[in-house]
Amino acid sequence: MLLYEQNSIVEEISELVTIHGKDRSALLPILQAIQMKYNCISDFAQQEIARKLSISPVEVYSVISFYSFLSPEAEGRNKVQVCTTISCELAGRSHVVRAIERELNVKFGETTKDRRITLEYTNCLGMCDQGPALVVNDDVYTRMTPEKAIEIISELR
Ligand code: FES
Repeated sequence: MLLYEQNSIVEEISELVTIHGKDRSALLPILQAIQMKYNCISDFAQQEIARKLSISPVEVYSVISFYSFLSPEAEGRNKVQVCTTISCELAGRSHVVRAIERELNVKFGETTKDRRITLEYTNCLGMCDQGPALVVNDDVYTRMTPEKAIEIISELR
């Protein structure tokens, strides 16, 4: 990260602390604001937030890990999520997962090198009788097959 980027994040976090305060309840709104602006919460930002709020960086990281809308790494332009819950597993989720990983050459939990697609697992989407279920950005797809999943993914730009 370049020095001017670090300075800009330090300033940004200072302003957020002025708005939200210095106690623990400020942590989540500050993380959300940094995530929205930078599309991730870098190691540097995590350290700075911890310093400003006088908490441990581990605590900051554990909150980021808990919420799926927060990420320590920049995500791709598109998010592809596959349900990992039991009904979708029984309906063939692992075949869909393997096909997507093979097609994109990345594993779930990772982002493609061109930052086009981030793959994530998610919990039950309420479509258990129509599994395997897949979410691409805000659209839910059901009764996925490896072939259908590849077709949907290949249309993402
Ligand atoms: S188990 Fe996958 S949508 Fe419910």
